[in-house]
Amino acid sequence: MADSFKAIKVTPSVYWVGAIDWDIRNFHGYLTSRGSTYNAFLVVGEKVTLIDTVKAAFKDEMFSRIASVVDPQKIDYIISNHAEMDHSGCLPDTIAAVNPEKVFTSRMGQKALVEHFHMDASSLTPVDEGETVDLGGKKFTFVETKMCHWPDSMVSYLHDEAVLFSQDAFGMHLASHERFIDELDRGVTDYEAMKYYANILTPLGSFIEKTLTKVASLDLKIDVVAPDHGPLLRRGEDIGGVIEKYTKWAKQPPTDKVVVVYDSMWGSSQKMARAIEEGLSDGGAKVKMFPMHDSHRSDVITDLLEAGGFVVGSATMNNGILPSIADVMCYLKGLKPRNLVGGAFGSYGWSGEAPKILNATLEEMGVEIAAAPLRVMYVPDDKQISKSREFGLNIAKKMMAKL
Ligand code: FEO
Repeated sequence: MADSFKAIKVTPSVYWVGAIDWDIRNFHGYLTSRGSTYNAFLVVGEKVTLIDTVKAAFKDEMFSRIASVVDPQKIDYIISNHAEMDHSGCLPDTIAAVNPEKVFTSRMGQKALVEHFHMDASSLTPVDEGETVDLGGKKFTFVETKMCHWPDSMVSYLHDEAVLFSQDAFGMHLASHERFIDELDRGVTDYEAMKYYANILTPLGSFIEKTLTKVASLDLKIDVVAPDHGPLLRRGEDIGGVIEKYTKWAKQPPTDKVVVVYDSMWGSSQKMARAIEEGLSDGGAKVKMFPMHDSHRSDVITDLLEAGGFVVGSATMNNGILPSIADVMCYLKGLKPRNLVGGAFGSYGWSGEAPKILNATLEEMGVEIAAAPLRVMYVPDDKQISKSREFGLNIAKKMMAKL
C-alpha cells in the first residue's frame, strides 16, 4: 500500500493527495451514481501544509500519495476547512501520526472537531474571519463560509498561486483519475455539479448569496478552485461559469420547466399523470416526468433546482400516500426548493386522502397552489382525463405568468 498511490501536482507547490471512491453510491440518501473523491492537498514550501484529510477508510491512500512527495512526518501544519467526516474522518489519526506544529480550523470548526472526535480543544488553533497567516513563506487567508454548508465551513486562499481551497463548495460527486474539470466530459460535469448543489445546498440559498457577495468583495485573483470533492477548476471560463451557476441556483428564479412526480397502484394515477403532462405541455411548460416506482429522489431535486413548477400525484393507500411518494416528499420538503407553482392529484377507491395530504405538503413547502387537488375515483373516464389535462394546463398558465 505504501507506494501504491501517487500525488498529482496541480500548481508548482500544490499537490492533490486525496482518495478516489469508485464504490460509493449512497451519500446519506443522495445517489452518487458516479462515485466520488475526497480531496486533500499538500502545499510544499519551506514548511509543509496539509489541507483537509479524507474519509477514515481512505487514510492509507492519502498517506501513500503524501509519501510520494514528502515524508509525512515533515508535515508542519494542517488546515481543516470543514469538520464533516468525509474530510475529517482520519484527522485524529493524521495528527497522531505526523504531530503537526498547528492544526488550523474556524472557531466553529474547533467546536465541531472536539465534539466529533473528543479531542483536546487546545490541540486545535482557531482562526478568525479574514485572518492571514504565513506558513513557511506560503501566505493563506481564511474566510468563513458559515452554513455553506455547515456552521464550521471555511475556505482557505493561497496567495502565492491564487488557489482557493473551497471545501465542499463548487464540488461534485464524481470519481475520476482526471483532476481538472477541463479533462472531463462537459455534459457529465455540468450535471454532477448541479446534482451536488441540488442535494446538498438547495436549502441554503440565502447563505450562499451572502457568501458569494462576501468573497466577491475580497476581490481575490483566483487561478485555481480546489474543492473537496470532484475535479478542480483552472480555466477562467470554468471558474466564472460555476460562480454564475451558484448565483442562479441560490435564487432559483422561476422557469418554464415543470417536474411531475407520481406513483400508481393500478395505473389510474399514472393515466392522470399522462393527461396532466399533455396539459402542462399545451400550456408551454417543459415537462419532466418521474415515475417514483423507479426513480431516485436525488434526481428529482436535481431537476427541481431549475424548475418553476412541481406537480405530485399518488394513489391513496391505507388512507395515506404510497411509500415511494412519502419518501420523495420527505426528502424534498427538507431541501426546500423555492419559487414553484404546483398542485396534487391521484386516484382512490374509498376515502381518497392522498391528493389532500400532498396538497398540504406542497403548501408547507411554500409551493403556490395553482389548482385544487384533483381526485378521481377508481379509473378515470374520458371526462376525467379531460379534467386532468385541464388541471395541467391551468398549472402551466400560472407558471408562464411568472416568467
Ligand atoms: Fe463533503 Fe460537508 O462534506
